[in-house]
Amino acid sequence: MFTVILGCLVSTVSSFAAAVSVFLKHCLNKVYGGAKNRVKCHCKNRVREKVVVITGANSGIGYATAQDLAKKGARVYLGCRNNQAGEKTARNLRALTGNQNIHFLHLDLADFFSVQHFVGTLLKRESQVDALVNNAGVFHHPSCLSKDGLELTYQTNFLGVFLLTSLLLKSIQRSSTPHIVFVSSEAHKLVTVDDVISYNPKQVKVINSFSDHVKNYGISKLALHLFAAHLIKTSEDVVVLLTDPGNVWTGIYRHSWQAWSEIITRLKCYIFMRGTEEGAQSTIHALNTPEPVTGKYVNSFLVTEDEKSYDATVVKSFIAASKELSGLQSLEN
Ligand SMILES: NC(=O)c1ccc[n+]([C@@H]2O[C@H](COP(=O)([O-])OP(=O)(O)OC[C@H]3O[C@@H](n4cnc5c(N)ncnc54)[C@H](OP(=O)(O)O)[C@@H]3O)[C@@H](O)[C@H]2O)c1
Repeated sequence: MFTVILGCLVSTVSSFAAAVSVFLKHCLNKVYGGAKNRVKCHCKNRVREKVVVITGANSGIGYATAQDLAKKGARVYLGCRNNQAGEKTARNLRALTGNQNIHFLHLDLADFFSVQHFVGTLLKRESQVDALVNNAGVFHHPSCLSKDGLELTYQTNFLGVFLLTSLLLKSIQRSSTPHIVFVSSEAHKLVTVDDVISYNPKQVKVINSFSDHVKNYGISKLALHLFAAHLIKTSEDVVVLLTDPGNVWTGIYRHSWQAWSEIITRLKCYIFMRGTEEGAQSTIHALNTPEPVTGKYVNSFLVTEDEKSYDATVVKSFIAASKELSGLQSLEN
């Protein structure tokens, strides 16, 4: 009886809190003239009929980016780990935009075999890829090892992306407008190259606090920047860009601020963080910007920043280690 009453009380309080937060967000949007879309890319459409691969497109920023690509008439491949969600997203986007060239292919970045299978299936359909948008990612995930025996956040956010991008590189280079976009985060600035180099992904990390999670995540994102530095140097024909969506309220925070004591933080994030459409703008800008210059970081206000330069020897040995960890080394031999 007590459990039932407690259950009812908890669900009433949660519903009330949800209603209040929706109301507050609505009021703030009115006051600030629609917080929804303060940042918007106004570039001309440069993706019509282009073959664009986007990972993690079934939710959040990836979905908003895929929707923009579909509206603009691109031929889009959605790489998602959940079959049902991926199929549903492709169906929804076809219905919503009338673009019938929206396809789902299964892709689990935390499984190197899945990445290889995805590339094999895609390349049977398309000999050339015009743009690869590496959007999928996780944050604040409990530390655990993937089926490949590697730390899950690091494999999802970096090693899986490394393998996918490397295996698609030749088909991207066949395009007359080759683009690789990495969705990064400001968190990459909170860690150092030494943190990345000394990171051992074969171990489950001891993560005790939110800041430990930010560090673990930041390492996986800075690793993307080192990989980008390698591509910028070795594949000058490809436009390599990194983007920051800003703080965007999405399912990526599903593991964050779950305690009752953190409900106010969660509420504040829900109210003040960006919506997904606004969060997608930096990536949309990277794909449509006129005369793009490789090696830039498009920040969350669409300002293009120069990428930091990294020590070439460090990058070289980091890439060699990543090749070995991701299995690319043995695929190349
Ligand atoms: N939200 C922010 O404040 C923020 C800030 C800076 C950067 N970012 C970056 O923005 C990108 C998109 O994140 P989001 O905020 O839109 O989060 P999200 O809504 O959780 O979207 C992440 C997507 O990645 C997919 N994904 C996760 N693990 C995967 C795996 N192993 N294989 C394939 N797909 C996988 C998820 O699939 P499921 O739906 O199956 O989980 C989901 O579709 C990420 O790279 C993130 O690091 C976000």
